[in-house]
Amino acid sequence: MIVLGIETSCDETSAAVVRGGRDVLSCVVASQHEIHAEFGGVVPELASRAHVEAISPTIDAALSRAGLAPRDVNAVAVGHRPGLIGSLLVGVTAAKAMAWSLGVPLVGVDHVHAHLYAGLLNNPVEPSVTTFPAIGLVVSGGHTSIYRVDAWNRLARLGATIDDAMGEAYDKAATILGLPHPGGPNLDRLARTPGANEHAEQFPISRLSPTSLDLSFSGLKTAMLYAVRGVPHTRGRTPPVPPAPLTDQRRADLAASFQRSACAAVLLKLERALDRTPEARTLLCGGGVTANSRLRDQLASLAQRRSLRLVIPPLDLCVDNAAMIAGLGSVLLDSGHRDTLALAPVPTTAC
Ligand code: KG4
Ligand code: ZN
Repeated sequence: MIVLGIETSCDETSAAVVRGGRDVLSCVVASQHEIHAEFGGVVPELASRAHVEAISPTIDAALSRAGLAPRDVNAVAVGHRPGLIGSLLVGVTAAKAMAWSLGVPLVGVDHVHAHLYAGLLNNPVEPSVTTFPAIGLVVSGGHTSIYRVDAWNRLARLGATIDDAMGEAYDKAATILGLPHPGGPNLDRLARTPGANEHAEQFPISRLSPTSLDLSFSGLKTAMLYAVRGVPHTRGRTPPVPPAPLTDQRRADLAASFQRSACAAVLLKLERALDRTPEARTLLCGGGVTANSRLRDQLASLAQRRSLRLVIPPLDLCVDNAAMIAGLGSVLLDSGHRDTLALAPVPTTAC
């Protein structure tokens, strides 16, 4: 089955063609980074307008790079939740138009769940190898969640961030350090500066309650702010603590210390989730922050220690893309799922 995937939930317009739920024949991503860079974040109205301009050429490009004509498409999958409502609307409308005009099935896909699927795309492991039960980790700019996955339509969220998403915390910490957009990858690069001391600053590692599987990154972000700008005067008790001079060495040390704490917080919660799920066979990971060098290394070690199969996307499929939508859409279609032309965009995730 050839599935055309469409993704417009945030600031990337993407279309992809996937065969058999696994083989990515093409994946085109039109990024809006330049449009939003001067505002330091995604401006929803500008995002929707840019999607409107990009959607048709992006779909055309995906089909032509796959060497296919529209009539070769057997089904259309679209990321219809969660996301910015105006952005989702563009992709959902385009997907309905394609499905209706071609007379093929339409399926709506949850974008967060699709991040968990991304590592199975172009994966050399036989599709027949059992993936479930799995523990899933999604860490992106908008989401940070841990799941138990028993089937692609049976996911239970075990925990999630109670404040900032991990990628959001990276982006804000990068801004505090004066790094250019996109913050996450730049902070990751700075943290790997030779000689950077990851113990220079004792940043907090959020634990929450002893049994919690939720995460929190706002304290870590504030700690970075205080480390760079100094600790403010608190109710007259302590004099303000001036910051250490922000030399190149200090910036690299702060980046490395931030990276150490952020990754440790995620690993701690994954260990807890796995302790409670000894039957888990697989660790499914996805989302933009799974491109992080330290997190990737630590996830690989965790999987090895726990004898789990690690499913993690290559770097280009960690971030938002339509191939993961087409891939998961294909599996849902195989299990009999169909949506009608009444499919609506929804700002929240299903679970
Ligand atoms: O999955 P994604 O493209 O979009 C959302 O669904 O949110 O994730 C984007 C996020 C951004 O916050 C970006 O800074 C972060 O992923 N990111 C990284 C790295 N690469 C991307 N964060 C830390 N280290 C990286 N190497
Ligand atoms: Zn995403």
